[in-house]
Amino acid sequence: MSTEKEDTDPRWYGRRYGKKLRPGRQKLVDTLLPELRIAPDADRLAANLHDLFPANCQDVWLEIGFGAGEHLAAQAANRPDIGFIGCEPFINGVASLLAHIDSGKTENVRIFDDDARILMDALPDASLGRIFVLFADPWPKSRHHRRRMMIEANLQRFARLLKDGGELRFASDHMEYASWTLERLLRQSEFDWQVASAKDWRAPPEDWVETRYEAKARAKDELPVYLRFLRVSRSSGSSA
Ligand SMILES: C[S@@+](CC[C@H](N)C(=O)[O-])C[C@H]1O[C@@H](n2cnc3c(N)ncnc32)[C@H](O)[C@@H]1O
Repeated sequence: MSTEKEDTDPRWYGRRYGKKLRPGRQKLVDTLLPELRIAPDADRLAANLHDLFPANCQDVWLEIGFGAGEHLAAQAANRPDIGFIGCEPFINGVASLLAHIDSGKTENVRIFDDDARILMDALPDASLGRIFVLFADPWPKSRHHRRRMMIEANLQRFARLLKDGGELRFASDHMEYASWTLERLLRQSEFDWQVASAKDWRAPPEDWVETRYEAKARAKDELPVYLRFLRVSRSSGSSA
């Protein structure tokens, strides 16, 4: 475990708005988003996280930076027994997810349209069964590494939020970011890498759904890396 505290950046540097939304998407932002939006209210989330979802939902999974939402919408359709929270501050991406939810009549997705760190700090301990961080911005320049999602401060957030045995799923087409992330995760005693051979980080997990950025990377013959880590049981003596 490193002894020096890693540099973090509390600001968020991404885009919030892109092209003007088409009227249909704007309408979804005005009408459907308020119905699905989660407020980062720690007391309410601690009291009733599961009440936000249909009664058949057994667990809650979080996707950070869902982009245009294809992965989240497909996972939610495949797993109606799971309540999904998607975090994405880019409103055009949120509008795209809303269109998927609307056309699929999806009931098990809730949205936080802001910086995931705000919501994570309001969610209760051991409340999530899975966290997805897929093709996150790599911020390649070293002076910008403090903006990366996989800095230690966020790994500690993931460790606090995941249930024992819960899964952290990370994928990237940026090799330096993937190895930088792996190095950090391997230093955290709360996480156990699920790997037996190179196939396990070169091939997506069985229930995988391709994301938009992943499709772009594959079109350029860039092979993504897939990392799966399980949250070590708290009773086995790790901190956090
Ligand atoms: C490179 S895109 C990848 C989108 C999607 N996961 C995919 O694979 O197609 C990264 C996304 O993460 C979002 N993002 C960046 N920082 C974030 C944060 N702190 N909280 C939530 N989303 C964030 C960005 O707005 C952007 O849409």
